Amino acid sequence: MKNKNEGKIYVGKAKGPINIALIKYWGKDDDQLITPLNNSISLTLDTNIFYTETKVTIEDLDIKSDKNIDEEENLITLKINGKNSTVTNRIKNIFKKFLKLKIPICEELSEKKLKIEIESKNTFPIASGCASSASSMAALVVAISSALKIDNNNLPKIELTKMARVGSGSACRSIMGGICEWIKEGGDDSHAIQLYDKSYWDLGVKLVIVSQKEKDVSSSLGMKLTKETSELFKHRINTVVLKHLLELKISLKNKDFNSCAEIIIKDSNNFHACCRDTYPTINYLNEESEYIIKGVILLNKICKNNICAYTFDAGSNGFIIYENKSKNIIDEYFNFIFGFSEQSIDELMNIIEGNKTIKIQDAKEQINNLIKRRPLKEKIINQISFNLGEGTIILEENDK
Ligand code: PMV
Repeated sequence: MKNKNEGKIYVGKAKGPINIALIKYWGKDDDQLITPLNNSISLTLDTNIFYTETKVTIEDLDIKSDKNIDEEENLITLKINGKNSTVTNRIKNIFKKFLKLKIPICEELSEKKLKIEIESKNTFPIASGCASSASSMAALVVAISSALKIDNNNLPKIELTKMARVGSGSACRSIMGGICEWIKEGGDDSHAIQLYDKSYWDLGVKLVIVSQKEKDVSSSLGMKLTKETSELFKHRINTVVLKHLLELKISLKNKDFNSCAEIIIKDSNNFHACCRDTYPTINYLNEESEYIIKGVILLNKICKNNICAYTFDAGSNGFIIYENKSKNIIDEYFNFIFGFSEQSIDELMNIIEGNKTIKIQDAKEQINNLIKRRPLKEKIINQISFNLGEGTIILEENDK
């Protein structure tokens, strides 16, 4: 397509999901390349409610230029939810990586002066532990590839995960759907792979939003401080995380939710323990997060089996993971303990008991004890349910 100045315009649009890590990435091996100290495993979530939609317009100004993308020759603008925002070096690095590809269109554009417009809109609180950067960087990468008509025929999808990685480490796991692993090896070749697609296992995720504030310590700074100061973290990297990765892979293969939940919980605990062990200490969790943790532990105890797991990223919002066959119990139970249910405790017991052999009297007593410490209703800002999703998708220009 040509514009009035005879320069070519390339437009692409994509929708990126968030992902939630079951085995956390925390700590960079190389700060520039954004490579991790350990492999991580995550669930890619659907984009029904939470997503980033990004449109990229690349205009070839038809002027020869041998300057790099981060030199002023190239005009890049970014709008997030309609507001002008700073174009970070990480965003520039994504474009640089594209322009280095040995693909004719990339080679051609790498010698030209470009005008690039990025328009991004997302539906969730930024920097509050809801993986907003993962979804936005994945959407940006797929939008650029779509604009340049790069697809599986000229570039394997794994290459796109590397592009997303330089935007935000965990973003590499949002390119593909289902259950993904980010492989640490390979320096700049560090990439994500899909372990299972979304239809492999009918898992659900409930995100409990208890804060919309930006976190005090960004994940980049947090992981740097942890790496520099925490002794516990050395044990995590050398022992704990390796054990968790191995065990989770076996449990996923066997679709053994009871043991998956145990590993997910332990990895979240271990990651947050390393944050607390950081000097100066970092605490991403708040009182409401602690209440979610207690709620999960109690439900699993009552059911004498782990039917759900909690995990927290670098923020206080809780992710509760479960098999969708337990979704009804999970929804009713958490609505009850958060104070949003119209039901009596006996009605709740009927729902849980219908599926489990529980000791009703004990369970009632324990739930009643828990809700004595229930946070104020307004502190539980929102609960959002997800299924596994298909990863980042290309949108047609007129797609909403
Ligand atoms: O990709 P970043 O820099 O936003 O770091 C993400 C770190 C965690 O969310 C805490 C863990 C993870 O693996 O997603």
